[in-house]
This record gives sequence, structure tokens and C-alpha cells, in this order.
Amino acid sequence: MEGENMNQDKILVVYYSYGGNTEQIVNRIQKQKECDVLKLEPLVPYTNDYQTLVDDEESKMDQEEVIELKPYEIDLSKYSKVVLGTPVWWYTMTPVMRSFLKQTDLTGKEVSAMITNGGWLGHTLDEIKKYTPLKSSINIVFQEHDLETKQSQIGEWISRL
Ligand SMILES: Cc1cc2nc3c(=O)[nH]c(=O)nc-3n(C[C@H](O)[C@H](O)[C@H](O)COP(=O)(O)O)c2cc1C
Repeated sequence: MEGENMNQDKILVVYYSYGGNTEQIVNRIQKQKECDVLKLEPLVPYTNDYQTLVDDEESKMDQEEVIELKPYEIDLSKYSKVVLGTPVWWYTMTPVMRSFLKQTDLTGKEVSAMITNGGWLGHTLDEIKKYTPLKSSINIVFQEHDLETKQSQIGEWISRL
């Protein structure tokens, strides 16, 4: 019984990271907070060529694209808090995160969002909020792989999760 009660406060971090920036922040959350992590992947891997990916995704911009995810197992009932982590692709969340949100009912969870990008957040938060209310969010800016957002700001946000 005691174990069950403890679990109810548990945090699940669900994320997608193509190039490692978002994963870097997830690693930091794991160091600072007790949590479980679910890494989402597309069923069909994206190209390794960054520029090809950028161009391909530009052509699908504004289509609210949904893709098939690699199968995963998760018991959401174990968690009261969910942290979503996604890069911004063409001013909104990645198709991987959108696909997860479309197929997952987060009703009753306390949901927060961690978004990494190069400075153009666009309508990412508005789109996420179509699927779930957010308790909090943080916009984390990288110039390529160099973190621009202050470490202290990130640490403070994590501590409030
Ligand atoms: C297809 C694609 C589209 C992107 N579009 C944007 C954008 O609209 N705004 C922005 O600030 N950064 C954009 N970026 C940059 C990423 O959001 C940023 O580098 C992010 O931190 C990458 O996270 P990751 O390393 O976890 O994949 C884009 C990157 C890719 C690959």
C-alpha cells in the first residue's frame, strides 16, 4: 500500500530528441528529480542528414503531421505528473510528440512541457495546449548544440516540477 502511494507522486518524462539537445535536458531532470523516462521514436527512422530533414519537414509544415511510433509500453496510471520534452520543428512540436499526444489521454495528470529550439518557438505551446492543459512550461534555447538558456533557470524550473 505504501509503495502505491509513493508511486502516485511519480513523474514520467516523455520525450523525443533527434539531435540530442532535448535528451541533454531530460538527463538533467533525471539527475535532479526521481522520475521514469519514456523515449519516443518514430517507427521509420528519420534521415541522418540534417538538411534533408529540415527541408522534408518544411514541406509538411502546417499539416499537423502524425506518424507511426515505435511500440512502447507504459502504465500511465502509475504517474500523477507528466513532463513532455520536444524540440521545435517548423514553429511547432515534432510529429513524434503530436502523435503521442493524439493517442494518449492525459486527463487528470499534471502536465508540464520542456521545449528546446533555436529561438523560434512559434505556436508550439498553443498546439500542445490543444491536447492537454499545461501546469508549466520552459522554452530552452540552443544555438546548434550550445545551451543559451541559463542553467540556473532550468534548474529552478525542474525543482518546481
Ligand atoms: C526539421 C527541423 C525544424 C526546426 N525548426 C525550428 C523552428 O521552427 N524554430 C527553432 O527555433 N528551431 C528549429 N529547429 C531547431 C531545433 O528545434 C533545435 O535545434 C532543438 O534543440 C533540437 O533538439 P534535439 O537535438 O533534441 O533534436 C528545427 C530543427 C529541425 C531538425
